Amino acid sequence: MEGLLSEQNREWRARARQVAESVVRPLAAKYDRLQEYPWEIQKAIAQAGLFRVWIPEEYGGAGGDRTLNLCIVVEELSRACGGVGVLFAVNALGSFPIIIGGSEEQKRKWLPKIAAGETLAAFCLSEKGSGSDAVSMRCRARASGDAYVIDGEKKWTTNGSAAQLYTVFAVSDPQSKSRRISGLLVEKGAPGFTFKKTEDKMGIRCVPVVECHFRGVRVPKENVLGGEPGYGFRHAMGTLDYARPGVAAQAVGLAQGALELALVYAGQRKQFGQRIIDFQAVQFMLADMATKVEAARQLVYTAARAADRKLDNLTRLSAMCKVFATDVAMEVTTNAVQLFGGYGFMRDYPIEKYMRDAKITQIYEGTNQVQRVVISRALMKEATLLSDMLEKYVPKEVQYVLAEEGLPAEVAAAYSVPATKE
Ligand code: CAA
Repeated sequence: MEGLLSEQNREWRARARQVAESVVRPLAAKYDRLQEYPWEIQKAIAQAGLFRVWIPEEYGGAGGDRTLNLCIVVEELSRACGGVGVLFAVNALGSFPIIIGGSEEQKRKWLPKIAAGETLAAFCLSEKGSGSDAVSMRCRARASGDAYVIDGEKKWTTNGSAAQLYTVFAVSDPQSKSRRISGLLVEKGAPGFTFKKTEDKMGIRCVPVVECHFRGVRVPKENVLGGEPGYGFRHAMGTLDYARPGVAAQAVGLAQGALELALVYAGQRKQFGQRIIDFQAVQFMLADMATKVEAARQLVYTAARAADRKLDNLTRLSAMCKVFATDVAMEVTTNAVQLFGGYGFMRDYPIEKYMRDAKITQIYEGTNQVQRVVISRALMKEATLLSDMLEKYVPKEVQYVLAEEGLPAEVAAAYSVPATKE
């Protein structure tokens, strides 16, 4: 499908593929085993200029289709190693809050260093008791003179300990409903800011995922995201709209990489006197895998284009591509292991790592259940917009039957028929 991409998109793909094939793939198994941050890979990515891809041109970035190019780069890196895909993409998650909601001063201070690969970024939203229900967070940011003082803990911070910059979301006004939460930019090394548990993970093992602890951490008021408190939740949700296509691209890369390995294996492995790829059952499995990967890729690119054009339907498209591509990645990587048979289950072969790396894509940056909530909420709004269709085109008695059978109140309201369920 290269022909459908612009020359600029193809240049980014070629540049990312070069790093992926020459540096990432040869080191993937080593860092998966060691569960250590691969600084040599990070340096190669920085040298290739890949950290510039999602940063606006005026702050040292590349310009152009920034989200689409980001997805293309993440896809290529993940095709070689899913852990490296997120090692890279999580810096976009950590810096989108500044791009979306930061003040001019914050953008000038941080974005050029992130674009150069000198500063790595992380995003601190989840807590032990607050995952999908992000708004229920307990971490506090209390105003104190010309600073905010942060107290609390953040869980599952990807890139934590490796990154220098952390966007931390905390409750700054517990009494307020709509302006409770603020985003704060916190630097590694700030007194009272420590890393505790480093997680031992099933997949994406080369990237640290840590607990961040804040004990009386003072940050100057100019580090409040956007310069004004109370907009943190909106900034966090807006960030996820831009970042979720990146997770989806990681999933596409993992699925593509697993499909390619399965193709190679099926073309070489012989049983019953022939290559297993010559069995129609195997061909049909591969055909379905390839079709789903391509469908996922096109949905990711559509969502990325919507982000680049700042379209209104970004929230829903972003959730759709995340849920679809990551479910495809889990299915395709599992089927790839199946095609490798007993060898696929063994660590000697590279395929089982794809399946392990794929699992987290269905969980982080919003579980796929949360994505379905986001999508269905968007659909409910659409139903309201279409509410007069039933009245116009469906006979009244049928509308009544629908209502009798028990429409939930909000659906009934959207279709202007009586509700029978509360
Ligand atoms: N853009 C901007 N603002 C938005 C928004 C969006 N997409 N979605 C919601 N908001 C705003 C709403 O307008 C609302 O504002 P007001 O109060 O002013 O009206 C406010 O945010 C609250 O919105 P909701 O009522 O919809 O909030 P909710 O409590 O019902 O939650 C949710 C909605 C979709 C479930 C949300 O909590 C969510 O996305 N949860 C998942 C969190 C998540 O993805 N966590 C992963 C963290 S990152 C990670 O995985 C770690 C890592 O390092 C990789």
